[in-house]
Amino acid sequence: MGMRVEAGDSRVSTGINGLDDLLNGGFPSGSITLVSGTPGTGKTIVCFQYIEAGIKNGENCLYLTSDEPVPNLLNEAKKLGFNFQSAVDNEQLKFMYLDVDRNNIHKEMEEEIQTGKYDRVVMDSLSPLTETPVWMVNNGNEVIPSSNSMTTTTFPIDSTQATRLHLRHLISILKEDKCTSMVTTEIPEGSRDLSRDSISEFLVDGILVLDLDTTMDRRKLTIRKMRGTKHTLKPHNIEIGERGISLL
Ligand SMILES: Nc1ncnc2c1ncn2[C@@H]1O[C@H](COP(=O)(O)OP(=O)(O)O)[C@@H](O)[C@H]1O
Ligand SMILES: [Mg+2]
Repeated sequence: MGMRVEAGDSRVSTGINGLDDLLNGGFPSGSITLVSGTPGTGKTIVCFQYIEAGIKNGENCLYLTSDEPVPNLLNEAKKLGFNFQSAVDNEQLKFMYLDVDRNNIHKEMEEEIQTGKYDRVVMDSLSPLTETPVWMVNNGNEVIPSSNSMTTTTFPIDSTQATRLHLRHLISILKEDKCTSMVTTEIPEGSRDLSRDSISEFLVDGILVLDLDTTMDRRKLTIRKMRGTKHTLKPHNIEIGERGISLL
């Protein structure tokens, strides 16, 4: 018996062959999905595929990167067979480098998302952003770091409370917008948490976990969570090839 698709349950294509079928058609429209994995598991490639699917569908896309400056990222994409240049040229796709050493990146990011023109937003990766300081004002509302909030209290960077607030803020920006988004998180080798901060996994609608089985020379993708979706929990064997990831 096939799975029931509810009326108004609109879905957004993941761009990965076979994955949409496992997700009732794709990510729920307006949702946030966390893509979690150790280094080299294919998180950035999943982002490329997600963005490519958006471009093909005529959607406006935003790619926020904190890992690499834009030219490097475009180059990396090209080597994998993703040519984003024409989409960038016709302003269907915007890349934004969030340099965590500058203190107004949250504001820049927030303002860009809040233009409301994006259907898909990717944040690759969330990890460095969650480790930058959080500023607070007296009434308890979070204030994004900027020159005029420097006088307010600062939480210790490593405090769980600060990280949680910070993440909530980042994720609420995405949630308030109509966009369907994907955020990646890098987890340390051997970690059993799904995110480095072990908090973001509770704030998102979906979680995809990417794994390596080095002994078997195999890669795996697991759907750990997807709001409003009946899905298998079984790890799927995947392969990275010329056009990115495909399910085996
Ligand atoms: N052309 C290719 N063919 C097969 N595998 C590739 C190719 N290009 C990159 N890879 C694999 O993808 C990995 C990088 O994927 P990436 O998405 O950047 O990982 P992450 O973002 O999780 O660190 C590389 O370590 C390599 O194993
Ligand atoms: Mg990456």
